[in-house]
Amino acid sequence: MKNAFIEIGNFVLSENISLSNISLLENYISAFNFNENNLAPYLVPPADKPYGRNLIYQNDAIEIIIMNWAKNAFCDIHNHGHSFGLVKIIKGVLKNELFDAQFSLQEEAIYREGDHILVPRGIYHRMGNMYALQNAISLHFYMPPIHNMHVIDTENKIICEVSDDCGAWLSEPNKIKVKLNFE
Ligand SMILES: [Fe+2]
Repeated sequence: MKNAFIEIGNFVLSENISLSNISLLENYISAFNFNENNLAPYLVPPADKPYGRNLIYQNDAIEIIIMNWAKNAFCDIHNHGHSFGLVKIIKGVLKNELFDAQFSLQEEAIYREGDHILVPRGIYHRMGNMYALQNAISLHFYMPPIHNMHVIDTENKIICEVSDDCGAWLSEPNKIKVKLNFE
């Protein structure tokens, strides 16, 4: 487990704060101001990935990940295992696409700085930075911490279960634990 306590600007989260569901979390974080400046110390470069991924806090109930999106980059279609997600847009414009169980696109929506997205348990989605000229930043809360995420190889029709430290991509074959074909 990582960090018993985290502070970002005036936001404080510790092991002692009980957030038993996503709407309590939604209420809790609405009081805080997250911005590019107070998240800057946590940004990691995307390198060759869609986003730089930084797990900054984790306890048994929740994990917090900061994503620093490359220009014009999309992740792969994935779910969050059995976790709920809440994504707060800190900088830029992000598209969120929702898929059905056959991985066909069902809905898409655009989110801007200050917006947040609730990602229900089990749903397959994909996000990406709409801007070609600048990075985007998003702050992700998952309850409980993500375990056994599925990332979809749509071209080869394979569901890949990845390790818990893997982002929503298939470009790290050593982090793929299980492969299942689908039709
Ligand atoms: Fe996601």
